[in-house]
Amino acid sequence: MTTSHAARDIDTSRPHSARMYDYYLGGKDHFDIDTKAAETVAAVYPGIFVCARENRAFMHRATRVLAREHGIRQWLDVGTGIPTEPNLHQVAQSVVPEARVVYADNDPLVLKYAERLMRSTTEGRTTYIEADVNDPQSLLDAPELAEVLDLDRPVALSLNALMHFVTDAQDPYGIVTRLLDVLPSGSALALSHCTPDFDPSTWQKVTDIYNNAGTPVQFRSREDVARFFDGLELLDPGVSVGHRWRPDSEPTATDAEVSLWTGVGIKP
Ligand SMILES: C[S@@+](CC[C@H](N)C(=O)[O-])C[C@H]1O[C@@H](n2cnc3c(N)ncnc32)[C@H](O)[C@@H]1O
Repeated sequence: MTTSHAARDIDTSRPHSARMYDYYLGGKDHFDIDTKAAETVAAVYPGIFVCARENRAFMHRATRVLAREHGIRQWLDVGTGIPTEPNLHQVAQSVVPEARVVYADNDPLVLKYAERLMRSTTEGRTTYIEADVNDPQSLLDAPELAEVLDLDRPVALSLNALMHFVTDAQDPYGIVTRLLDVLPSGSALALSHCTPDFDPSTWQKVTDIYNNAGTPVQFRSREDVARFFDGLELLDPGVSVGHRWRPDSEPTATDAEVSLWTGVGIKP
């Protein structure tokens, strides 16, 4: 894992979802081509900035709830994104300093900044794997995963704002099942997923922008997002709009601005 390897692989000839998301979150790790594409999305869907912020906030709350109330000490976070503080391990380790976190993403730019994800507590551990969720077996077979996670103990699988980049043709439900199958009882799935439910015509435009930029997307309905939790026990309040999943304070954004289904389920 070297920067030169990563730099060689970074494609700046077209926008990339991770770098566009970094722009929505107010980060600095994106290029002009990403800014341009992200601004095109924001022009048709100004809620994108709220959506990105609420997505991070859901990750923070879901991680804390799993650590505090469900004894989770290990996380597998796929589609990690460009590091944005606090990263998942910082949230988890603020509750349980010994928390262990494996991060995975297929974007070379995330790999380039992975060192920022390695600033673990001394009691805990983090690692980063360059992997494509469309090949779950390679991810599960990665030696770094076995070094950090004990698959005999519960693990939270964290798939935040990832599965809408996996189209039905790529078997998204089969992928999630494959990842959950290796995890023991008491493990969890925390997932967020953009949806067209509250404003279909706007989300059709957003879909077109991503597809035309070379990033196939499939934003799903509540019913289709709920399918990812089949066989799991959903924690209250069930599959909810991101800002309504156990909010820390009274939600102020509208459902249409957030346009994100979120949920946490426990494996029986
Ligand atoms: C919108 S960002 C979400 C980042 C973070 N999970 C969060 O919720 O804040 C989506 C991330 O998924 C990654 N991604 C997209 N397709 C992927 C794939 N097939 N395998 C692994 N990662 C992928 C992108 O590179 C990007 O970093």
